[in-house]
Amino acid sequence: MNNAPIGVFDSGLGGLTAVRELKNVLPNENIIYFGDTGRVPYGTRSNDTIKKYAAQDTNFLLRNNVKMIIAACGTVSSVAYNLKQDLPVPYTGVVSPTCFAAAKATKNKKIGVIGTSATINSHSYRDLIHSFDSEVEVIEQDCPLFVPLVESGFIDKDDPVTRLVIERYLDGIMKAGADTIILGCTHYPIIAEAISSVVGKSVKLIDSGRETAIYAAKILKENNILNNSQEKGACEFYVSDTPEGFENVASVFLGENVSHSVTQIDIEKY
Ligand code: DGL
Repeated sequence: MNNAPIGVFDSGLGGLTAVRELKNVLPNENIIYFGDTGRVPYGTRSNDTIKKYAAQDTNFLLRNNVKMIIAACGTVSSVAYNLKQDLPVPYTGVVSPTCFAAAKATKNKKIGVIGTSATINSHSYRDLIHSFDSEVEVIEQDCPLFVPLVESGFIDKDDPVTRLVIERYLDGIMKAGADTIILGCTHYPIIAEAISSVVGKSVKLIDSGRETAIYAAKILKENNILNNSQEKGACEFYVSDTPEGFENVASVFLGENVSHSVTQIDIEKY
């Protein structure tokens, strides 16, 4: 048993998709969340920059004595794949748990993968799916406008701007007949309802944040480091820009007011 917090990070709001699920599956766990809102987006940056940011983000969480780190970020998981080796605590990214879930879900063996440009260029999801089953057709598409839309609060399922962008990006995947789509960036589940209403309810959307949280819970159990408190866990949020924009969308998405638990830090110090 270990009552230290779980550390979760992302470039901004996306990792909250993992936090929401962690709070469901492990309500007694304490969570420290870092959203690098001063440097978002990660997905249009070079691999070296993404690796440097990931190292600083994990250093910040380790200084806060976390017992596990979750890179709730498709971009970091795809590009900084060696991160695990350098960490003194258990770690997971989002790619493996998400690929397992998608390979299980598809019936017609056609999986669409959407993510940031860095993630799609790395082919991380495609290559892992093919290592399970080389016959699955994987259709990849980067969606660089989705992260700015989410970070700017364009998350309503009926927002015409958001819908138009989704239609444009998802066209090729739908024409290819995919029955399953991996939301390979953790920001995308925040607009999952809008995506679903464009592609149709029959297409299964795999939420990378959710699958990763479920997998992280398994790692905590296996390592015997679950929190044994009977109290509801606390959640602290840290960001690298002013908290306002983050607080608004985070409160809507998590269904609770987080405005008094968001603190700004200088991530360049880590
Ligand atoms: N939410 C992140 C991801 O899963 C990062 C998006 C970005 O900053 O570009 O890829």
